[in-house]
Amino acid sequence: MQNLIKHIEWKDGVLYVLNQIKLPAVTEYNPKTTIEAVFYAIREMELRGAPLIGIAAGYGMYIGIKDLQDMSHDEFIAKMRLQGKFLAESRPTAVNLFWAIDRMIAKADTLRDKSVAEKKRLLEQEAILIHEEDRAINRSIGENLLTLLKDGMTILTHCNAGILATGYYGTATSPIYLAKERGWNLKVYADETRPYLQGARLTSYELHASGIDVTLICDNMAGVVMSQGKIDAVITGTDRVAANGDVANKIGTMSVAILANYFKIPVYIAAPTPTIDMNTPTGNDIPIEERSPREVTHWYGHQIAPEGVKVYNPSFDVTPHELIAAIVTEKGVVTPPFDVNLRKLFA
Ligand code: MRU
Repeated sequence: MQNLIKHIEWKDGVLYVLNQIKLPAVTEYNPKTTIEAVFYAIREMELRGAPLIGIAAGYGMYIGIKDLQDMSHDEFIAKMRLQGKFLAESRPTAVNLFWAIDRMIAKADTLRDKSVAEKKRLLEQEAILIHEEDRAINRSIGENLLTLLKDGMTILTHCNAGILATGYYGTATSPIYLAKERGWNLKVYADETRPYLQGARLTSYELHASGIDVTLICDNMAGVVMSQGKIDAVITGTDRVAANGDVANKIGTMSVAILANYFKIPVYIAAPTPTIDMNTPTGNDIPIEERSPREVTHWYGHQIAPEGVKVYNPSFDVTPHELIAAIVTEKGVVTPPFDVNLRKLFA
């Protein structure tokens, strides 16, 4: 597909990030040259989406050591662990963040005999590899999801698990872009996704820009479009899949899954294997980020709720595995029982 939105670029040791806070009104690229800048870009959601957070963390870990001078291997590793600890504090739910940090440290640990200069060169390569692998993962997830879909179907998605959340075609959106390449006609309903509006600002933006037939709805309209027979499948991304198949994703995903099950519409979760956390037994063990009350009380700087009102703003929810028809990875389509079949992916 041509005209893929450019949203993350690694050039001459600098990470250029499309500022997703300002989309779709403003297209602004910000260079990140320090690990602190990468930390704030993740925390403030200048970039977001589990795989993209993982990609940025890989580059961030390299940026943090790129100016180190000669030192012992143990000192080098200690330095990496310290900065990994720092970066890990940026957001708690997307496991790709911790996966990428651990991968960079594990890579460094294999380089005991190399000079610091050589270590740095190989760690930059590792960060680039994380990015490149995500592109391939996106495509394979799309291919695998297409085996569950047919030309002419309509998909409902929640939040943004698209180009803007990954290194390439997205996860949940990948079959949609691939279908377009093949001349299929898949239609999409995009939930606006309050309070951060990833569906309105990002998903409808990128699909519309790519010439996909996308219809934006408010979150509370999902039940109606399902009851009217307009939806053939629900596809979302995920920030962390627990070992039993429970799925953390953007707040509202669980409600959509409950509705879909009521209307007998299959719920498919697009999940790269780095997003599957076999060390987290169930959804109850997934840390759920709570964000600022201001995301709920304000809309683009305008106050829309009374001053001082109590607010609860969990940023993610957990969809119980019983509501999920399939978890679709780059390695294949995983169906229930998820506790058994997810384990097979890592055997
Ligand atoms: O808070 P966000 O915008 O980072 O949340 C993003 C999501 O919930 C996505 O659905 C998930 O990360 C999967 S992205 C392929």
